[in-house]
Amino acid sequence: MTWPDNGASAAARHRMAADLAGGGWSEWIDAFTAVPRHVFVPRFYRQDTAGAWQSVTWEEPGYLEAVYSDDALTTQVDDHGVPTSSSSQPSVMLRMLEALGADGGDQVLELGTGTGYNAALLAHRHGASHVTSVDIDTGLVEAAVRHLDTVGLQPTVVAGDGAQGCPSRAPYDRVIATVALRMIPQPLLRQAAPGAVIVVPLGYGLARLTVTGPGHAVGSFLDTPAFFMARRADGEPPQFEEVARQPTTISRMPPADLLGRLKFPASVALPGYHSCSWNSAEGELETVGLWTPDGSTATAHVSGAVRQCGPQRLWDTVESLAEVFDGEPAREDFRLIVTPTRQVVSYKGPDGPNWELPPSP
Ligand SMILES: C[S@@+](CC[C@H](N)C(=O)[O-])C[C@H]1O[C@@H](n2cnc3c(N)ncnc32)[C@H](O)[C@@H]1O
Repeated sequence: MTWPDNGASAAARHRMAADLAGGGWSEWIDAFTAVPRHVFVPRFYRQDTAGAWQSVTWEEPGYLEAVYSDDALTTQVDDHGVPTSSSSQPSVMLRMLEALGADGGDQVLELGTGTGYNAALLAHRHGASHVTSVDIDTGLVEAAVRHLDTVGLQPTVVAGDGAQGCPSRAPYDRVIATVALRMIPQPLLRQAAPGAVIVVPLGYGLARLTVTGPGHAVGSFLDTPAFFMARRADGEPPQFEEVARQPTTISRMPPADLLGRLKFPASVALPGYHSCSWNSAEGELETVGLWTPDGSTATAHVSGAVRQCGPQRLWDTVESLAEVFDGEPAREDFRLIVTPTRQVVSYKGPDGPNWELPPSP
């Protein structure tokens, strides 16, 4: 054994795998039992009560419990305090790996190497020569390769924009992303074998598609919520100063609905949207903000006052969703059809409400 381990880490790992199994068993549970998450997450960050990020390492109390819990762990934060990489929530990873349904000989492409933990699970199960993983962050790729090597696994890990795939290793039978996309990038479809399965976070849901022909795929969303960090790509920052100068209109729905029951449909209708909220000193919600990569921005105060600016009237779209859905719609009622020219998500069948995703890069 060349990686730090002791009775406590081994016991914690087995306990987490048993919890994930929930009394059942799959080859993925074997992988979670065998692959040491702590090697890939030697340090993670958590926010203190003042919102500052504090690093937690092996020496700190609570480190092993957190690393072998069913929690997503922030593993990198930029100079502005924004998380830029994380180790995803193990139960969501398991759900995605199961949905991928890969067989022994399949070639698998992963977008978003991050710590390398998911690539390690894939390599453990399928053999390292069957796994290719791409991350946009060179420093993360270097660390992931080092940690994979530590546990004796050498899948192909490359630095680049995952949306471009990795043509030199194509074709792929399975494609999995652990970074949220706004649409299915066409390069991935071009690099996929006929009948390939693609499992990706699309907005705040997990889409599972089957490739039906060159540039074509169909599928639907899993019932699992997903909150992955967005693919790094160009985008405008929110225009909060500009929006504050706009005249107000009155919202036809409670602003809090965007943060709850409409979170997923809004991510389909407004691909790539971000939201934030401002609370009172007592912790009560005061204002919800949202913006999209084209710079469109909206704010909605709990009093109902709405302000909007930019090319899209974002709050108008959110209000239209509130009229379509009574409560929180089930993710599995949404289907996705991808062609070389259009990508459309529909609700409860092709004749139901539908939304077009942005064009592929
Ligand atoms: C949630 S983390 C991935 C977790 C990872 N699978 C693991 O097991 O640790 C998301 C990762 O996506 C990467 N990422 C962001 N934009 C990307 C892009 N355009 N192409 C490839 N990777 C990207 C980030 O650098 C980050 O490491």
